[in-house]
Amino acid sequence: MAKKILVAGGAGYIGCKLVPALLKAGYDVKVFDKLYFGDEGLAAVRDKIELEVGALIDIREKSLEGIDAVINLAGLSNDPTAEYNPEANKIMNTDSAIHLARLCKKMKIRRYIYASSCSIYYSLTPDDTLRAEDYPVDPKAPYSHSKYMAERGLLELVDADFCPVMLRKGTVFGQSPRMRYDLVVNVFTRDAFKNRQLILHNKGRMWRPLLNIDDAVRAYLAALEAPEDLVRGRIFNVLNDNYPVIQIAYQVRHTLESKKGVRVDLQIQEIGPVRSYRVDGSLFERTFGIKFDTSMAAAIEEMWDALEEGVDYNNPIYYNLAWLELLRDMERRLAVMNYKVF
Ligand SMILES: NC(=O)c1ccc[n+]([C@@H]2O[C@H](COP(=O)([O-])OP(=O)(O)OC[C@H]3O[C@@H](n4cnc5c(N)ncnc54)[C@H](O)[C@@H]3O)[C@@H](O)[C@H]2O)c1
Repeated sequence: MAKKILVAGGAGYIGCKLVPALLKAGYDVKVFDKLYFGDEGLAAVRDKIELEVGALIDIREKSLEGIDAVINLAGLSNDPTAEYNPEANKIMNTDSAIHLARLCKKMKIRRYIYASSCSIYYSLTPDDTLRAEDYPVDPKAPYSHSKYMAERGLLELVDADFCPVMLRKGTVFGQSPRMRYDLVVNVFTRDAFKNRQLILHNKGRMWRPLLNIDDAVRAYLAALEAPEDLVRGRIFNVLNDNYPVIQIAYQVRHTLESKKGVRVDLQIQEIGPVRSYRVDGSLFERTFGIKFDTSMAAAIEEMWDALEEGVDYNNPIYYNLAWLELLRDMERRLAVMNYKVF
């Protein structure tokens, strides 16, 4: 019988690429998701998966019956949304992650893969130090702090029968059936499409670790299938490479000029955010024997083609903060008016 994987947050940007890949690899899949962004991104596989709608903090044993392994992608997935509601962020990113892990232990589900983030490393006093997994960190921002505290909580639960694995991903880029235009490469591709211009703050000097969405999917599959002794209670940075933001902009410009015949201007500003970090991804490569070799240019082209096909890139659903603000606003209005659409 096929192994069944529970993907919490499986209807999100990464989940909508990961779920079809899990099915293709022969797994059965159950998605547990609050569906903040709907389930349209899973349309192509909707009749092949089980979907349970709910908040992760409320998940109970029954939802985990028949599950062999868990991948947890659920939560607020960037700094602005975490800062928008730090209490909700703590519940969703830390408490829910640990709650799910405790349930897994109870239900004898051994493998638990947690979506952590390289933003745990960032600092406001940028230097060029390459940060490996053992680099001392003390993240203060709500998002990175919540990811770090989840990691610590999961590490406390490690034993011979429970095998949590933490993947600290770089900023992901590329096309997904549930798209986000609030991630740097995706933003630049959209800006090039919309304005034929990219605006660079702080001269584009800040470093970013980047990860192709297809490589993110490969990393989850690898973490799922690796022998327990190789990954039990371990943290891995997962990235293609580190880039100064200006180099990302050059790459977007070059790709669009050479492949699409489009001219894109760069507007370089002196001031702006200085958040910067460089991350060492070699432990993942050594441990799993995987060298990511996908091309950023191909991902940029794919996103451009989707924009040309008519994606409504102004729709707030593609911007996590704007969408959550809208949901909260609607929630308030509907509560006050006791409103029914029909
Ligand atoms: N996208 C990136 O660049 C990136 C980089 C590093 C880490 N991560 C982490 O990877 C994970 C997935 O990222 P993404 O880009 O797919 O995010 P996303 O925002 O597109 O998707 C998150 C999904 O989780 C669901 N969700 C959120 N809170 C929930 C809750 N409390 N209970 C149940 N479901 C909930 C949402 O409805 C959504 O479908 C996140 O944990 C994020 O922090 C993402």
